[in-house]
Amino acid sequence: ASIEKGNYRHFMQKEIFEQPTVVAQTLQSYIRPLEQQVALPQMDFDLGDIKRITIVACGTSYYAGMVAKYWFETFARVPVDLDFASEFRYRDPVLEAGGLALFISQSGETADTLAALRHSKENGQKIAVVVNVPTSSMAREADLLLPTHAGPEIGVASTKAFSCQLAVLAALAAHLAVVKGKMSRDEEREVVKHLTEAPAALNAALAHDDDIADMAHHIAPARDVLYLGRGPDYPLALEGALKLKEISYIHAEGYASGEMKHGPIALIDEAVPVIVLAPSGPLFEKTVSNMQEVMARGGKVVLISDAEGIAEAGDGCLATIEMPKVHPLIAPLVYAVPVQLLAYHVAVAKGTDVDQPRNLAKSVTVE
Ligand code: G6P
Repeated sequence: ASIEKGNYRHFMQKEIFEQPTVVAQTLQSYIRPLEQQVALPQMDFDLGDIKRITIVACGTSYYAGMVAKYWFETFARVPVDLDFASEFRYRDPVLEAGGLALFISQSGETADTLAALRHSKENGQKIAVVVNVPTSSMAREADLLLPTHAGPEIGVASTKAFSCQLAVLAALAAHLAVVKGKMSRDEEREVVKHLTEAPAALNAALAHDDDIADMAHHIAPARDVLYLGRGPDYPLALEGALKLKEISYIHAEGYASGEMKHGPIALIDEAVPVIVLAPSGPLFEKTVSNMQEVMARGGKVVLISDAEGIAEAGDGCLATIEMPKVHPLIAPLVYAVPVQLLAYHVAVAKGTDVDQPRNLAKSVTVE
């Protein structure tokens, strides 16, 4: 079937708005609604025996992997290594028996990731693959195939594949926690409930499209933009910066909020917008104090938080964008939306080629 833009101006915009639907579609394969349980496809090994997980990916898929590292360690207490596929083989990683190597890829064909998969297989790892193209090389070579059902992604900058990867990885984290005895049936039911609410939360996030489009005009003239986040929102800060670089060609950096004082704070002045991703919760106060350090130096802050967080810390910001209040397990999915929309609208304001940014390819099949 031919893929059309419909009423959208760009494929990327269409794909951002498809997220509630495709995330729901993806979750359907990983949730048993009646039992309120997480379910994974059949596998020929016992996940409960896995001692260590090595996550390998590139680009946006790598940032999904970085979120998963937080989840696997927090919920299942399984130690996780994380690598860019292009670095993995060359550092001669220690791959011990009983390890699971997890590869995340939209295309399933990225050369570096595929080479890392084969290297891991040769070194005795079980191979799990989160992939959007079910006929791809990575899908064929997996011991455990975890498909995302995002549908074809045309925009070079990945959006809906990312949120679907996060949905699968959240389900995997919960399942791993259950089989490791770190999550009770009641807690699992709770997680399933929150996952089921994710599509509605994504819709609530998308409802801020107009606000974000207005705000994008303040960001478009910038030469540099900084994104800050803590915990699982740190990878989202990195992903936000990547999206902006990819399609608007503005230099952007994602930083762990607390690390800002060790360097990037030297860059802050009135000309550098700082996007702060900070859902209310245990990490909030710390992030807000980093945000105040930015403001004290004249930096223009855009705070992305929930109503509670904005009420507490929104004064003095250039703009605030309100997200629904959600469970930490789905916050990274929800916070993906405003960073995608921001990059999109800045690119539109600058008149760049959103779906085909210069020098980039949808799938990189050379090393
Ligand atoms: C390219 C694309 C990115 C993508 C990355 C990894 O750089 O432009 O959008 O995140 O490859 O691709 P994969 O298909 O392995 O997820």
